Amino acid sequence: MPTKDLDLLLREGALQPPKGFFERRPPNSKPFLKNFDEYLKLYKQSIDDPEKFFSQMAIENLSWSKKFDYGRLPTNEKIFNKETCDAAAWFVGGELNACYNCVDRHALLNPNKPAIIYEADEPNEGYILTFGELLKKICQVSQILKQLGVKKGDTVAVYLPMIPEAIITLMAIVRIGAIHSVIFAGFSSASLRDRIIDANSKIVITSDESKRGGKIIETKKIVDEALKQCPAVTNVLVFKRTGNSHIPWTKGRDLWWHEEINKYIPYIPPTAVSSEDPLFLLYTSGSTGKPKGVQHNTAGYLLGALLTTKYVFDVHPDDILFTAGDVGWITGHSYVVYGPLLNGATTVVFEGTPAYPNYSRYWEIVDKYKVTQFYVAPTALRLLKRAGSKYVENYDLSSLRTLGSVGEPIAPEVWEWYNEFVGRNNAHICDTYWQTETGSHIIAPLAGITPTKAGSASFPFFGIDPVIVDPVSGEELIGNDVEGVLCVRNPWPSMARSIWNDYNRFLDTYLKPFRGYYFTGDGAARDKDGFYWILGRVDDVVNVSGHRLSTAEIESALIEHHLVAESAVVGFPDELTGSAVAAFVALKDKSLYSDDDNANDIKKQLIVTVRKEIGPFAAPKMILLVNDLPKTRSGKIMRRIMRKILAGEEDQLGDVSTLSNPDVVQHLIDVVKSN
Ligand code: WTA
Repeated sequence: MPTKDLDLLLREGALQPPKGFFERRPPNSKPFLKNFDEYLKLYKQSIDDPEKFFSQMAIENLSWSKKFDYGRLPTNEKIFNKETCDAAAWFVGGELNACYNCVDRHALLNPNKPAIIYEADEPNEGYILTFGELLKKICQVSQILKQLGVKKGDTVAVYLPMIPEAIITLMAIVRIGAIHSVIFAGFSSASLRDRIIDANSKIVITSDESKRGGKIIETKKIVDEALKQCPAVTNVLVFKRTGNSHIPWTKGRDLWWHEEINKYIPYIPPTAVSSEDPLFLLYTSGSTGKPKGVQHNTAGYLLGALLTTKYVFDVHPDDILFTAGDVGWITGHSYVVYGPLLNGATTVVFEGTPAYPNYSRYWEIVDKYKVTQFYVAPTALRLLKRAGSKYVENYDLSSLRTLGSVGEPIAPEVWEWYNEFVGRNNAHICDTYWQTETGSHIIAPLAGITPTKAGSASFPFFGIDPVIVDPVSGEELIGNDVEGVLCVRNPWPSMARSIWNDYNRFLDTYLKPFRGYYFTGDGAARDKDGFYWILGRVDDVVNVSGHRLSTAEIESALIEHHLVAESAVVGFPDELTGSAVAAFVALKDKSLYSDDDNANDIKKQLIVTVRKEIGPFAAPKMILLVNDLPKTRSGKIMRRIMRKILAGEEDQLGDVSTLSNPDVVQHLIDVVKSN
């Protein structure tokens, strides 16, 4: 928490929220908070009595079909229990429906209000869907799913591009109490297969093809490839996106969306579920090769997505939020789908890329629809900054009040560019720190309220008590000006509840490494004024262009190639993508790569292997063929040594004499230098 008052923070160089911020919000809407002092007051309440604070928020902001009996259980333990490590359950005894909260209640009030602005890959091919139209389509798709046998508690796999049907699908699933499991459409058939099997999904929803950046992706073909090894899948519902005729089709199993949807009436009532019933699974990468199905439950997640959209981005019902993220990742879940709709605002669904047909695409969209909140990952901003400010200058961006950043630290020069060229020094930059597992922002400035420093995510959101822990002793580091690993002391409503079918792995990954805390996996510092600075992952996770990748998962993919004996994958800094992936690979037959042509050919094959096993976005930027990998005497690969060599810090390798093969170090240095 800030230890100084606002005036002092501002005098010492923190940036003031833009002047006139509140005057520019939609007419007839009141500010949610008056000022920073009110944030401090509410924050204190949320930590002192989280049950009371969030109960009140849940009653005021969500619609319940049955009111809850307890704000949270266990009631008397405000922090994680050091013995059991269990997370809390929220709003126990309550019943509600997620789709009702996102769509019905707004459709009832204002059916003609735009819910979705669809901006297709080709400019001018999009359209607007109102809350009334959205509700009708959702109800029809819900009936298709029911007809196919989907029941409350079943999982449905979704492999769709960024089109309105992605939102319709998610809402149709949760309307009948089922659980969605979205698989990012950049994943390969092998990854899709593993996730369908792990979640035991029997129905898959996809499209014939996808369009992105002017390119066609053969989506259904990838699904069919995956389904060769998913005997449990009974049906595939296919949305016709391009209508190209040559897509594979299995009669009896595959159904066209447009043929099915018209068979059904425009309304069915939503199914109420319990607060703690699962809402969705989202697979994410961790320290081991096996992806984790992060499980979010209904009421707590909804409240987190709703409140952060409202307070962090200052979203009022008449605002138009453009989150340039994919629904295949958590950012798309919380800030393309749930957050905006729960607040009754309009959300932009953008199918394309920032560079197609040219680097002005985002700004053209902002100008065209008068977007009020824009949210993107720094990797896209780096690309656009490099392309040049001429692509942004000629657009009217004066509608923008909030500019969000997510997924990786935003370097001060990129922050300044965002502020100056996009925000025109008149929008509030909100660097939001959070994770798939946290469900919604946990450290972020509140737009219009919180002073900021370029590169810091500033202060915790309501109900989050961040702790910086010494990674060696596990002791909390008290006070300001400290650096360590970032943990959270107390459970909060939108934190993940489990890893699908593997609660013990959930405890082992997040709640047991530092008993009594939730462990984020990130390093962080709290500066002299109490601002938080995220320093990056301390585990084997690499952030490439805002995509979270597990080095272990890439290693498991490489080993699938018949020539590979073993590999070690590490991240290294990259100007454009934040981090990039380097793979050190030792082949079974070392004579194979003695000549350069042969070595290049093998490297290409290895890249194809990763693309096939995981997806194109995971392909290593650099492959280094080596004789051996540095190992401890117990056989553990020392990835730290490879990181240091890649960073050109071979003078900081420390004592390598304890390695079982110390000679390998010079060999690695030579290979990196000659690459
Ligand atoms: C990183 C994305 C610095 C962090 C929402 C985290 C960030 C991981 C920020 C989660 C930020 C996210 N500044 N780093 N503002 N936001 N990260 O699950 O390492 O895809 O642990 O969720 O992204 O990635 P995930």
